[in-house]
Amino acid sequence: MALFNPFNPNSTVTPALFAGRSQQMLQILQKLAQVKRGMPSNFIFHGERGIGKTALAKLTLFMAESRDPVFKDLNFLTSYYSVEKGQHFKTVLQAVLNQLTDKLPKTSIDRLTDRLGDLFKKGKFSFGAFGVTMETSPEQMELPGIDGLEQYFKDQALSVLTNILLGIKESKEGERYDGLLIVLDEIHNARDIKGIAQLLRSITTTLDVNGLGNISFIIIGYSEAIHSFFEGDPSARRSFDTIHLTSMPPEEAKEVLTKGFDQVQVKYDSNELDTKVQVAGGYPHSLQVLGHNLIEVDTDNAINSDDWNEAIGNAARELQTKDFSNLYDFKGKPKMREEIMNILALVGTSVPRKLLAKQMGKNIYSPSSLPELKKSGAVREDPESGNLLLHSSLFRSAILLHVFKKPGAIAEPWMRTAGNIIKILQERPNEE
Ligand SMILES: Nc1ncnc2c1ncn2[C@@H]1O[C@H](COP(=O)(O)OP(=O)(O)OP(=O)(O)O)[C@@H](O)[C@H]1O
Ligand SMILES: [Mg+2]
Repeated sequence: MALFNPFNPNSTVTPALFAGRSQQMLQILQKLAQVKRGMPSNFIFHGERGIGKTALAKLTLFMAESRDPVFKDLNFLTSYYSVEKGQHFKTVLQAVLNQLTDKLPKTSIDRLTDRLGDLFKKGKFSFGAFGVTMETSPEQMELPGIDGLEQYFKDQALSVLTNILLGIKESKEGERYDGLLIVLDEIHNARDIKGIAQLLRSITTTLDVNGLGNISFIIIGYSEAIHSFFEGDPSARRSFDTIHLTSMPPEEAKEVLTKGFDQVQVKYDSNELDTKVQVAGGYPHSLQVLGHNLIEVDTDNAINSDDWNEAIGNAARELQTKDFSNLYDFKGKPKMREEIMNILALVGTSVPRKLLAKQMGKNIYSPSSLPELKKSGAVREDPESGNLLLHSSLFRSAILLHVFKKPGAIAEPWMRTAGNIIKILQERPNEE
């Protein structure tokens, strides 16, 4: 038995076990090195639930604070904040600024006390107009004329950030920082999401012009929310680098498992890993569930075929009972609906509707098939191209875990259909 289980789907992976995403890491690192030199840079991380947004942010924070030559000797003062449902952005920024000051050296605190007066009392910020806003009803807040308050808030935030940045630059050796890194997670929860991009752009641009561009914001949210985030201010798009996280390629997915195995010195057969890792569809959350189950069932510090079979079964049950029992019948005899979903899961990319119908040789348009799948949300159809895609990567993994659990799945007709579609799409990628 392993000493402990290195996999945990319910927590955010530690830097030592963080796997893959090397391209994204490099991009972020290069930008942060520029921020260190006074060129501000902001990021958006977006992607579906469980795809690894928070994990990437945690790793970024680690690199930014590391003072390690491997990570460009970065030494940022950082803050991470997760937005609560319905939270107003002012309270978010206020909390972030307070988090930052809690980490500041004493000389910088003195500076804030001297310069900011009423805004900064007893080591805490509270924005002047903030109290007024809080007592204003949501309806009133939408009224014209409230803009004056918004302006006041922005000016206060700017003045606080200016003083923090000046403070960390003036600090003595050893207490100095390269700049500020502020991570705002779950931005889709913010009540006033539409104004945020504009506000942040305006703040970072002003700081930049004043020679204080050592600041970076990372905004994290679901892809659907990113649209509204930019809606208020189209030019804000230019001041954000967008990182869209999708499923991991097989090499990276394998690394998630091998890093965990290596950490607790559990052996594995790498050929077997090559094929078995596919059941998770490159989805980090499912990989953690799978890894966790593998370590749980293993008894001799070596992952063998029985361990794989048992762990895949357990992982599948875990995922299937969560959200997907109403989208896919995991228990009964598979109907055409399930066959369509099996094929989409196996192919892994979006499939043109016509190609699917032709290859299956069945009427997928009968009311109980495709139309119902679209209605339940199990399958999405791109209105322009007519391409079909499964609900989510997590759903895809649940299906893959389910179909590969059964012996003899390889002989199923839909398995062959999926193989044909993959081949056709590879030969004619423009069909996609
Ligand atoms: N690069 C990675 N290496 C190893 N494990 C990872 C990696 N990325 C994510 N994970 C793991 O996968 C799970 C889901 O990741 P994470 O919580 O970061 O997703 P998320 O996109 O923030 O999801 P949500 O939208 O629900 O907040 C976590 O257990 C996390 O530790
Ligand atoms: Mg998250």
